[in-house]
Amino acid sequence: MRTDHQAEPTEAAISALGHGTTAVAYPNIALIKYWGKRDERLMIPYVDSLSMTLDVFPTTTTVRLNPAAPADSVTLDGSPAEGEARRRVIDFLELLRERSGRSEPATVDTRNSGPTGAGLASSASGFAALALAGAAAYGLDLDRTALSRLARRGSASASRSIFSGFAICHAGRGVGAAADLGSYAEPVPAPDFDPALVIALVDAGAKAVSSRAAMRRTVDTSPLYQAWAASSKADLAELRAALWRGDLDAVGEIAERNALGMHATMLAARPAVRYLSPATVAVLDGVLWLRSDGVPAYATMDAGPNVKVLCHRADAARVADAVSDAAPGCSVVIARRGPGAWLQKGVER
Ligand code: DP6
Repeated sequence: MRTDHQAEPTEAAISALGHGTTAVAYPNIALIKYWGKRDERLMIPYVDSLSMTLDVFPTTTTVRLNPAAPADSVTLDGSPAEGEARRRVIDFLELLRERSGRSEPATVDTRNSGPTGAGLASSASGFAALALAGAAAYGLDLDRTALSRLARRGSASASRSIFSGFAICHAGRGVGAAADLGSYAEPVPAPDFDPALVIALVDAGAKAVSSRAAMRRTVDTSPLYQAWAASSKADLAELRAALWRGDLDAVGEIAERNALGMHATMLAARPAVRYLSPATVAVLDGVLWLRSDGVPAYATMDAGPNVKVLCHRADAARVADAVSDAAPGCSVVIARRGPGAWLQKGVER
């Protein structure tokens, strides 16, 4: 919905008319997963989730308001965005216009430095960057909590990429406006926890089933879903305490069982959703081998075949070697905790 009312332009909005407003955001990897929505329109998750924002594969997004243009224009990695990806960005721009009371079409230019749609959280970094750049461009003055709520409307995992380090996304309670208000992200303190996350890119191609479609099917048809959601609640409480203690073994054990449980819910969906490939399983074997050899290493996987291995920073090179040996040909990237989303041009609060 658009209205004719034009809000007073802010400094960022004025700059958005010229060079545009640019934001950078990093992907995050959930240690306690979000899987399933209880409200698809408002993008409200069923379960709380907790993630680590990474220091690799940032997304850089520029939003430029274009009063003279007949419609929005969206470019992804230099090419016009198409299909679902384009529709999601345009829906998000509509939300920004509704919230700001402005009506100008926008030009959105997004660049991912990591693979897009391969279960490496490109939608998390993408919508976090779009929320920040878009809010500034349309003159919305939002604090980080409100930005995380806004980013959630693009992709629920994006709410967490607003923050650096560890962040929780609350599923919230109630319905409608109350649910929308109650579902936001906030930082989780982990003062003595600075691990490595070794990313094994076994397949950088886009996934066959989007996470959105897969989670819908899982919620609707998997007999295991409710059991996983209940155990996830207990996992989250335990993981928070382990993060606070800086206890890598406990964090890793909980994260690994939470991720394997999430994949079990998908495997039990009808028809099954299977993201794990033979190379994924080979890396999981490599992780077991590392543990049996005395190296604390724990795996997590998202909506794709790639594996992320949590370990001490001092063990990262050894873990990277073991992972490469387990799945020859996969590329390996070592990540650490990274920054929250930030504005490159324009005004940030
Ligand atoms: C497996 O946030 O990509 O990575 O909200 O529909 O955009 P939408 O889904 P998305 O799903 C992420 C799922 C996950 C787990 C997680 O990041 O918590």
